[in-house]
Amino acid sequence: MPSSPVHRLRVASVVRETHDSVSVAFDVPVHLADRFLHLPGQFLTLRVPVPGGGWAARCYSLSSAPGDGPPTITVKRVRDGLASNWICDSLTPGSEVEVLLPAGAFVPREEHEDLLLLAGGSGITPIMSILRARMARQGTRAVLIYANRDERSVIFADELRKLSAGHPGRLLVIHLLESVQGLPTVDQLARLCAPFASADAALICGPGPFMDAVAAALARAGMAGERVLTEKFRSLESDPFALPEPAAQAGEGADAGAGATVDVELDGERRTLDWPAQTLLLDLLRANGLDAPFSCREGACSACACRLLAGEVKMLRNEVLEEEDLADGYILACQSLPVSDHVEVTYN
Ligand code: FES
Repeated sequence: MPSSPVHRLRVASVVRETHDSVSVAFDVPVHLADRFLHLPGQFLTLRVPVPGGGWAARCYSLSSAPGDGPPTITVKRVRDGLASNWICDSLTPGSEVEVLLPAGAFVPREEHEDLLLLAGGSGITPIMSILRARMARQGTRAVLIYANRDERSVIFADELRKLSAGHPGRLLVIHLLESVQGLPTVDQLARLCAPFASADAALICGPGPFMDAVAAALARAGMAGERVLTEKFRSLESDPFALPEPAAQAGEGADAGAGATVDVELDGERRTLDWPAQTLLLDLLRANGLDAPFSCREGACSACACRLLAGEVKMLRNEVLEEEDLADGYILACQSLPVSDHVEVTYN
């Protein structure tokens, strides 16, 4: 049987970062350490209780640098936000939470050495993961433009001070405070970004209006759209913690027997499977005992990405792979149906 992507992790520590935000670190058992080794900028999906006894899945960005201590999320309390309030009020060291493996594509490319990072409020969380990882690597530089309502809302204020003091010439941090300068406008942001528009890439995370303003400002400052990466979270429509029924996974029923064959390379193993026309590749693989990774199952996180070596597939939805990824042959297994009679994919 494929292993479950759902893991029960114990909270190792809860650190209060500001009056309305906390960092929650998780103990990862040794046998899962490799699977929880995240990339800078990725997120964890947590199962959180909702009123009336149900559960919901919520994604929270990791603020930790990969491999530097336990995986840690940082969460800001949202007014009337049930999940963020539960995390801020209820989790203590020793609490147990169901968690999916790290996922997400808000990750800078390795070859990009100069980064322009733009964070609004709790959007600093994945940016902090990226910054921590980058400052630990020689030869990289970053400029961070960080907007907040007021001084007491600035998450990681001390650490950012220490990081920039410890890396002179490599890290510049520019704070924008609404209480001092007012809400940042496109004009203001464009002027601020212009000197750094030749960076290899810009990464943006924050509230929707902030991200829209920054994207417009970067375009005005002359930064090409393909060098800009934004982190978009949306509510999940299905429950990624609920595994599909075995019969549905196998594609048994009306469409069984129709379709294609697929050769799959995964974990050093090569298998050939019949692929019914209406069965999603991820469901087919897991129903046949292959430990194919996944998280959201909605085409939004890229945890299920594999590479197409031959044949053609149709993706029902893709909110995460960029043109470059598609040109490199990457597909989302959770959204792929067969088009050609024979398909070959690899996870290696
Ligand atoms: S599992 Fe998230 S995109 Fe496929």
